[in-house]
Amino acid sequence: MVLSSVLSRWEPLYLATVASGGPPGHPATPAGIGESPPSPARASLIMRRSGGAPETEPGGSHRNLQEGTRSVAQIRREQPEDVLSIREVNDRAFGRGSEGAVIEILRGACESLISLVAVVDGRLVGHILFSPVELEADDGTTVRGLGLAPLAVLPEWQMQGIGTELARAGLAAIAETTCPFVVVLGHSGYYPRFGFEKASSHGIRCQWHVAEEAFMVLVLDVEAMRGVSGVARYRAEWDAAT
Ligand SMILES: CC(C)(COP(=O)(O)OP(=O)(O)OC[C@H]1O[C@@H](n2cnc3c(N)ncnc32)[C@H](O)[C@@H]1OP(=O)(O)O)[C@@H](O)C(=O)NCCC(=O)NCCS
Repeated sequence: MVLSSVLSRWEPLYLATVASGGPPGHPATPAGIGESPPSPARASLIMRRSGGAPETEPGGSHRNLQEGTRSVAQIRREQPEDVLSIREVNDRAFGRGSEGAVIEILRGACESLISLVAVVDGRLVGHILFSPVELEADDGTTVRGLGLAPLAVLPEWQMQGIGTELARAGLAAIAETTCPFVVVLGHSGYYPRFGFEKASSHGIRCQWHVAEEAFMVLVLDVEAMRGVSGVARYRAEWDAAT
C-alpha cells in the first residue's frame, strides 16, 4: 500500500479532530496544527513524500520520512470498534497493562490525539499514539508539540515492518501540519531511522529522569525550534505509567 493513499484517507479526519477543541486547561491543538501553510522546510518534506526524489536538507531531520517500504498492513485511523483490540495489542506487546490503561484515560480526556492502527486481514496487529507535549523553554515560553507513545505491535507480528509503517505514516501526517517537534522516549536503536535525534543535542530534556540516549526529538520546524531549549512535559495522564 502506498503511504500517500493511506494518508489521503484519514488525514481529513485527523484535521477535524485536532480542530475540535480539548478539555479546559489543556491545549486542543498542539502548536496550532493545521492552521497555517507549511514552512519552506516542511513544504520540502511534503514534496518528497509525494513522490519527489529525496534531497539533502540542512539538519537532515526529515530524511527518513520518505516512501519506499513495501506494506504488510493497512494503516488507518483508530475507529470506535478498535478500542478493545488496541488494549490487547498494547498489553501483549508490553507484557503489562500500563500503556493500554493510559491510552484509555487519554482517549476520554484529550481530543487532540493521533491514533493509528495497523490491520492485516481484518485483524488489528499494531497501534501508535501521539499525544500533546509542552516544551517549557528556558526563556519562559511554551512550545507545543507531540509525543510518540506508545508504539506497539503484537509479538507474533513483530519484525515485519509494521512498527516502521505506523511510525512513518503518523510522522508524515504530522509533518504536513505546523507541529514543530515530536519527542519519543524509547529505544535509541530504533527511532533514529525515522529522523529522531538525541534530544539533549537540541537542549531538550525529559521531565522524567531517563537515560539520555533514550529521549529523542524529531524537529519538524527548524525555524520555530531554533535556539529553543527546555523541559518537555507529557500530559499528566502519563505520570501513572512511568
Ligand atoms: C518496538 C516495536 C514497536 C517495533 O515494531 P516492529 O514491527 O517489530 O518493528 P519493524 O519490523 O518495523 O522494525 C524492525 C526493526 O526494529 C528493530 N527493533 C525491534 N524492536 C526493537 C527494540 N526493542 N529495540 C531496538 N530495536 C528494535 C529491529 O531490530 C529491526 O531492526 P532492523 O530493521 O535494523 O533489522 C515492537 O517490537 C514492539 O511492539 N515491541 C514491544 C513494545 C515496545 O517496546 N514498544 C516501543 C516502546 S519505545
